[in-house]
Amino acid sequence: MIKTENLTKRFGRLVAVDRLSLEVAPGEIFGFLGPNGAGKTTTVKMLTGILRPTSGRAWVGGHDVVAETLEVKKRLALVPDEPFVYPKLTGAEFLRFMADLYQIPWETQKKKIPELLEMFELLDWGGELLESYSHGMRQKLVLAGVLLREPKILILDEPMVGLDPKSARMVKEIFKTLSRRGATLFMCTHILEIAEKLCHRVGIMIQGRLIALGTVQELQRQAAQEDRNLEDIFLSLTGGHEYSALLKNL
Ligand SMILES: Nc1ncnc2c1ncn2[C@@H]1O[C@H](COP(=O)(O)OP(=O)(O)OP(=O)(O)O)[C@@H](O)[C@H]1O
Ligand SMILES: [Mg+2]
Repeated sequence: MIKTENLTKRFGRLVAVDRLSLEVAPGEIFGFLGPNGAGKTTTVKMLTGILRPTSGRAWVGGHDVVAETLEVKKRLALVPDEPFVYPKLTGAEFLRFMADLYQIPWETQKKKIPELLEMFELLDWGGELLESYSHGMRQKLVLAGVLLREPKILILDEPMVGLDPKSARMVKEIFKTLSRRGATLFMCTHILEIAEKLCHRVGIMIQGRLIALGTVQELQRQAAQEDRNLEDIFLSLTGGHEYSALLKNL
C-alpha cells in the first residue's frame, strides 16, 4: 500500500531523508520512530505530495507520489503534525467543507458529522468558531475530518499530541478498528508505548537513515535485549543514554 525505494530528500547540504526503502502492507499499522529532526515529517511530506523527493521513488496505493500526485491525494488521508483549521469556520462548517472537498454525499454528511462531533465530545462546540478551539480540540476535529472519508490509507504525523487520555484511548481503538477493516496506517510517533502496543511493525530513523525495521520482538532480538521494552531498545539504538555524563555537570 505504501512503498519507498531509495527515497531521498536533501535541503542544501543536509540529507534529511537518506535512501529510505520500506514497504507497508494493507491492514498494517506501521510506526515511524526517531529523534527530533530524524526526517519523519520530511518523509510524510514526500509521501503526501507536499515535497518533491530529490531522488528515489515512492508509491501510495500503487500510485507514484510524483507522477500521480492527484491520485495519491484522493486515496490517502493525512493528519499533519500541526492541526491546520480555518479559524473563521465553525467545527461543523469545517467538517462539511472537508466532506464537500471529498465529494461525500449530503445524506451521509447529515448523519456522520453529528456522530463524529459527538464521538469526539465536540457536539456542543460544533457551532463555535475554530479560533476558539484548544489545540487538542483542533486535533480531534482534524481526526474527525479524516474519519469522515472512511480512508483506506492514513498517514498520521504524531496524531496523539494534545489529546487527553480518554480521547487518546478512543483514537487508539479507532486505529485498531480501521486496521482490522483493512486500512493501512503509517504513523510517526514519539510515544513508544503506543508504538509497542498498536503497531504491527516499527521503523527507527536517525539522521535520515532507517537504522532498524521490524516487529518489536524482532528489534529486541536484533538489539540482543529480549527482556527490554521498546524505550530501552530505542535509546540504545539512537544513543539516547549519552546525556548521562552531561547531567553530572548540571
Ligand atoms: N523546509 C526545510 N528546509 C530546510 N531544512 C529542513 C526543512 N524541513 C526539514 N528540514 C530539516 O530536515 C531534518 C528533518 O526534519 P523533519 O521535520 O523531517 O524531522 P522529524 O523527524 O519530523 O522531527 P520531529 O520529531 O522533531 O518532528 C531536520 O534537520 C530539519 O531541520
Ligand atoms: Mg516531525
